Amino acid sequence: MESSVSAKSLETSPSLPATVTPSGNTLGAEIHGVDLKDVSDEAFAAIHSFWLDHLVVLFRDQQLNDEDLLCFSRRFGELDWAPIQESGRRFVEGFPEIYVVSNVIENGVPIGSLGAGEAVWHTDMSYLEVPPKASMLYALEAPPAGGDTFFCNMYEAYSRLPHGLQQRISGLGLKHDATYNSGGYIRQGMSAADDPVSSPGVYHPLVTRHPETGRLALYLGRRRNAYIGGLSLAESEALLDELWEYATRDELTWRHHWRPGDLVLWDNRCTMHRRDSFDPDSRRVLHRTQIKGEARPSS
Ligand code: SIN
Repeated sequence: MESSVSAKSLETSPSLPATVTPSGNTLGAEIHGVDLKDVSDEAFAAIHSFWLDHLVVLFRDQQLNDEDLLCFSRRFGELDWAPIQESGRRFVEGFPEIYVVSNVIENGVPIGSLGAGEAVWHTDMSYLEVPPKASMLYALEAPPAGGDTFFCNMYEAYSRLPHGLQQRISGLGLKHDATYNSGGYIRQGMSAADDPVSSPGVYHPLVTRHPETGRLALYLGRRRNAYIGGLSLAESEALLDELWEYATRDELTWRHHWRPGDLVLWDNRCTMHRRDSFDPDSRRVLHRTQIKGEARPSS
């Protein structure tokens, strides 16, 4: 976490023998002094609460194998299986919940998804009726430069909208496209579809209430093939462009530069994320888990 090093304020919890350094941005915090292989119930409760408060939390210098990653992930709830990779590969052998994010090619076959290009702003798997409530990404290998991941705060995106715009989007539903992933690749089992009105996807409210914090958030999913039900395509495109412009302003984002051993946990109900491109000749290997949502997003 670039900005955490310079953050001024420290928070501590009596139940967590660790310090928390907020990033200084509207979201993001680093939790120091925790070994994720060994988290007591009290420490877990504190981590859970910091995560709800800061939306994205970083743990550095972890040494986790896939079992450890699954074990910590399951503390938050049942896990979703990973999406099928662009290559058709389903998952890490024996670990169907682990999604490999990587540009590495072995024996002519990519070992993971999303390549080395930009991954555009999105919320994970929002094309599902019940999208995952959280995701965590653990870095095994990181490039020396590039490949940074950015997160944005969708509570703030909503609360900073002009009142008239908040009223205008109240009650509207947005279709979340199932065709393309954030790297622009067609998902397994889908065919190219570029008409937002007819492309396959699932509708969710544009404004959702977080089931744990009760706060309202703008829920945009991803821009490509998004469509606001009941509007003409032109009206939908214009309104979405306006909303996206608010949601991805620099002041609502926080940037993370990866080191091997970093684990980042984020709340999919109130954040989006994107990733910078990086040199395709350098290696980037991360393992992701997705924690199942408990209910459809609702307002
Ligand atoms: C993801 O969208 O889950 C991957 C983000 C990244 O590669 O940093």
